[in-house]
Amino acid sequence: MKNITIAIDGFSSTGKSTLAKQLAKELAYVYVDTGAMYRAVAFYAMKNNFIKVDFFDKKVLIDSLPNIQLEFRFNSDLGFAEMYLNGENVEKQIRTIEVSSFVSKVAEVSEVRSKLVEQQQEMGKNKAIVMDGRDIGTVVFPDAELKIFMTASAETRAQRRFDELQQKGDNVSYEEVLKNVIERDHIDTHREDSPLVIAEDAIEIDNSYLNKEEQFSAVLELVNEVVKTA
Ligand code: DC
Repeated sequence: MKNITIAIDGFSSTGKSTLAKQLAKELAYVYVDTGAMYRAVAFYAMKNNFIKVDFFDKKVLIDSLPNIQLEFRFNSDLGFAEMYLNGENVEKQIRTIEVSSFVSKVAEVSEVRSKLVEQQQEMGKNKAIVMDGRDIGTVVFPDAELKIFMTASAETRAQRRFDELQQKGDNVSYEEVLKNVIERDHIDTHREDSPLVIAEDAIEIDNSYLNKEEQFSAVLELVNEVVKTA
């Protein structure tokens, strides 16, 4: 069977990573969560006080980029790769609401984007990859054989994210999560460099009313069609 590149883009908390992980497992492909890379850079900026509420020293972050080493290491117990920042597993730290509140600002910085895009293209050069993010089908792999764009209402997404955070014991309100979802949508779609747009040849999936299994089998059918003609 021919190996292809699968690009999954869309708004935050649309279940991109759930779908990408299911596909990667089924097809024995590599899965790359590019949001984790932007989150790790935001976490680094936060830890070093380059970014706070109402403060962001972009220049010092740009100057520090050569000191930021990002790496995915596969965890066979979990069945997916975890994010390492300068050799430290930061998988938990990058998923907090605090990092979520800074990450879109960090992802607006062109120098950050070009560093990460280069690394992502290197990871995907042999195909057999499922990559999720915001600009995968438009910038990272414009020639990807299959492009999926995922959407769902802001309220549905906020509820999913709120449930996840609650399960982890993160004490945030639904209103705070909804506000963060709406703010990130705005920044992600309005930034100058690589704004979140749907690629012309992407297939849009609104999963507000689809469960994970229905969504997975619909996308798997698309994969099989594409692989046949690739
Ligand atoms: O998918 P996520 O919510 O973990 O992504 C975190 C942030 O990173 C999101 O607000 C936008 C940014 N991002 C991006 O700009 N480009 C990507 N390819 C992936 C994420």
